[in-house]
Formats: sequence, structure tokens, C-alpha cells
Amino acid sequence: MRRLGILLSGRGSNFLAIHGHIAAGRLDAEIAGVVSDQPDAPGLARARELGLPAFCVERAGRTKSEFEDAIARVLEAQAVELVCLAGFMRVLGPGFIRRFPQRILNIHPSLLPAFPGLHAQRQALAHGVRFSGCTVHFVDEGVDSGPIVAQAVVPVRDDDTEETLAARILVEEHRLYAEAIAKILAGRWFLDGRRLLEKK
Ligand code: GRF
Repeated sequence: MRRLGILLSGRGSNFLAIHGHIAAGRLDAEIAGVVSDQPDAPGLARARELGLPAFCVERAGRTKSEFEDAIARVLEAQAVELVCLAGFMRVLGPGFIRRFPQRILNIHPSLLPAFPGLHAQRQALAHGVRFSGCTVHFVDEGVDSGPIVAQAVVPVRDDDTEETLAARILVEEHRLYAEAIAKILAGRWFLDGRRLLEKK
């Protein structure tokens, strides 16, 4: 299993980090398709510039299930084995998730289960935590609620703003996502309830 599908809606720095790890030989995988729901997402433009199979599937004019079916059909046509959400700003429904069982990852800029949803770094600052970070997790039917694959801790400084904290977390995201993908692709794991454990 090594064909990755990337779903994004914006900047795409996590997608580009994954691409960079692959290009540098640090991650044994290939990006088989990049799908954006936003036609003008910078990440989609970068995918095209890099010569990767890039697709735009817009939500407008489709029901939620038609939209998700269209994305799933693109991923299936590209024979994608692992779907990586990288700044994809829509919650996927059960129909889509069932088509890729234990095959969808997401990265979130907090130490889940703290601060799910939008503006995780703003939530962390408002709460006054001294440490935040990022989490790669399997996608289930909730918001940022699936089993945790990997986490990295980032300290919060007194003078942090949402932007400075986000930037410090993003450095860790770019390392952690590739590590988590490698772990899942290697296959030496199983889920014991919510816990991802190593196969002996
Ligand atoms: C990242 O902070 C990621 O954790 C969150 O959305 C942001 C996407 O950034 N899910 P980018 O598009 O990968 O640069």
C-alpha cells in the first residue's frame, strides 16, 4: 500500500511537505491524486505545476452524497490506497468513510482531543494551555475524533499570537504527517479500541 490521495482546500503546505519527503527518498509512497474542492486553492495549482494528477471536485451543484461520491470515484480511479486530508475543510460523511475503511488520515493543529474543529490555535491560546501541538488521526464520522496515529508537542510562549503559534506547530506538522503515513503504510499496527498499537 503506497498510493496516496491528498484532499485539500487551500494553501497545501502539508501536501507539499509530504511531496518533499517522497522526493527526498524519506517516504516510500507516491501521490496518485490531489483533489481540491476549491478551484483556486494554491495547493491545487502547485499539484498541477508538479505534474501530479490533480482534480477539482466542487461542492456547488451537488448534494453532499453526490459530492463525496465524485471524490471517491476520482480516488478509486487513481487506485488510491491511503487518503490523506491536508487542510480539507469539509466533514466527510459515513458513505465516503465506509469506502476507505481505516484508510483516511487527517492532521489537526492541536493535541486532540483538546480543541477540535476550527481555529485550534486560537482555542489553545484562549484556554491558556502551556503546550499544544498537532495530531495525525484516522478519520471517523465525527469532527477530529478518530483514533490517534501520532502526536507532536509544541510549547506555547507568553508572547505567542495565533499566527506565531500556528507557524511553530506547522513545522511539526510537516514532519509528523510523513512519519505517520510511513507508519500506517508499513502495516505493523492494529487498533485495540481507539489505541493504535504495534504488532509484535
Ligand atoms: C493545517 O494547520 C492542518 O493541521 C489543518 O489545516 C491546516 C492546513 O494547512 N488541518 P496547509 O493547507 O496544509 O498549509
